[in-house]
Amino acid sequence: MFPKRVASLQPSGIRELFETAPADAINLGLGEPDIQPPREMIEAFKDALDRGMNKYGPSAGIMKLRGAIAENLKSYRKDVAAENIIITAGATEGMRIACETIMGEGDEALVPNPGFIIYGPDVALAGGRPVEYSLTMDNDFAPDPDEIQSLITPKTQAIVVNSPSNPTGAVYSKDVIKAICDIATDRDLYILSDEVYHNFVYEGEHTSFARYHDDTIIVNSFSKSLAATGWRIGYVATSKEIVEHLAKVQYYTLACPPTATQYAILEGMKIRKKFRAEMLSEFRKRRDLALSMLSKISSFTTPPVKGAFYVFPRYAQELRSEDFAVALLKAGVICAPGATFGTLGEGHLRFSYANSQENIARALDIVREVADRL
Ligand SMILES: Cc1ncc(COP(=O)(O)O)c(C=O)c1O
Repeated sequence: MFPKRVASLQPSGIRELFETAPADAINLGLGEPDIQPPREMIEAFKDALDRGMNKYGPSAGIMKLRGAIAENLKSYRKDVAAENIIITAGATEGMRIACETIMGEGDEALVPNPGFIIYGPDVALAGGRPVEYSLTMDNDFAPDPDEIQSLITPKTQAIVVNSPSNPTGAVYSKDVIKAICDIATDRDLYILSDEVYHNFVYEGEHTSFARYHDDTIIVNSFSKSLAATGWRIGYVATSKEIVEHLAKVQYYTLACPPTATQYAILEGMKIRKKFRAEMLSEFRKRRDLALSMLSKISSFTTPPVKGAFYVFPRYAQELRSEDFAVALLKAGVICAPGATFGTLGEGHLRFSYANSQENIARALDIVREVADRL
C-alpha cells in the first residue's frame, strides 16, 4: 500500500496517449518548441564541460546566472537582486519546491480548472488541498475575481495563476491581473505565478503578477524561451526570505541545479532577444494559420488566443474529449484531450502549434475531415 498522496497521483494522460500514436502521426500535442536551442548556447555547454564545470555548485544556483535573471526582471520591478532568484530544475521543480515551502498541512491553494496538470498534485504533495477556480470560454478563459473571492477561506494560502496559459492560450488583461493582485493583497495571500510562456505573447507585452503584488512567487524557466526543455533549468523569483527557505528545500530535493548547464544558459541569455524575435515571428504565423483553419470547422468554436502556443477549441459533438482525441490519433493527428487539464476542459481539444506550418495545415485538414464525420 502506498500513501494516499502518492497513490492518488495520475500518470500524465497526454504522455499515455502519445505512446500509442502511430509513427507517422503529426504531433500537435507538443508542449515544447520544435526548434533546437541557440547554437551559441550549445557551444557554451560543451565549453563549460571542457572548463571543468562538472562539480556540485551552490544550492540556489550560480550567482552570475541569478544576477543576470535579476537584471532582466528589473523591467517588472526595480528592486530585484540576485538574492531574489533561485535556479531550479525547470519550472516543474520550481513549482514543487515553492508549494513545499509555503503550504502548511491542510492549507488550501486556489488552482485553475482547466490548468496545467502539475498544480493540484504539487499542492497535495506539500500536504495542502487544491481548490479549483474556473476558466471558461465565455470569460475569455480568465479568472473571475468574484469567484476567486468566494473560494477564499481562512485556510487559503495561495492563488496559483498561469498567464500566458496552458492549455487555453489566454493572456490575462492588466485589469484582471490587478484585480487578482488586489484580492491577494487584501487577504494576505501568496500569488504563485507560472510565467513559463512569458516570451510567447503575440499582442502587447507580458505583464507579471509581481508588478502589482509583493508576495508573488514567479516560477519560470528557459525550457520554452530558449527551446531547451531537456536542459531542465528554470528559476523562482520572489522575496529574499522565501528564496532562503526555497534553497533549503532545494538542497534536500536536488542538492543543486546542474552546473555546466547554468553557464550555458548564461550565454543563451545574451542572445535571447534575437532568438525570441525570430521564434515569435514564426509562431505568430503558425497561430494565425491554426486559427484560420479551425474557424472553418463548423462544429468547433475557437476563441482567439494571444499567447503560449496552444489553441483550445470547444466542439459540439457529444463525445468525451479522450474519445475525440483517440479518433484523431487513428486518423494520424496527435492532440491533447481537454479533460486532461481538468473537468472544465471536457468538450475541448488542445492543439499545439509548435510544429511546422506545413504540418499544421496537413493535420488540421485531417481534423476537419474527422470532425465533419463524427
Ligand atoms: C504552464 C507550464 N508550466 C510549467 C511547465 C514545465 O516547464 P519546465 O520544463 O520548465 O519544467 C510547462 C510545460 O509544459 C507548462 O506548460
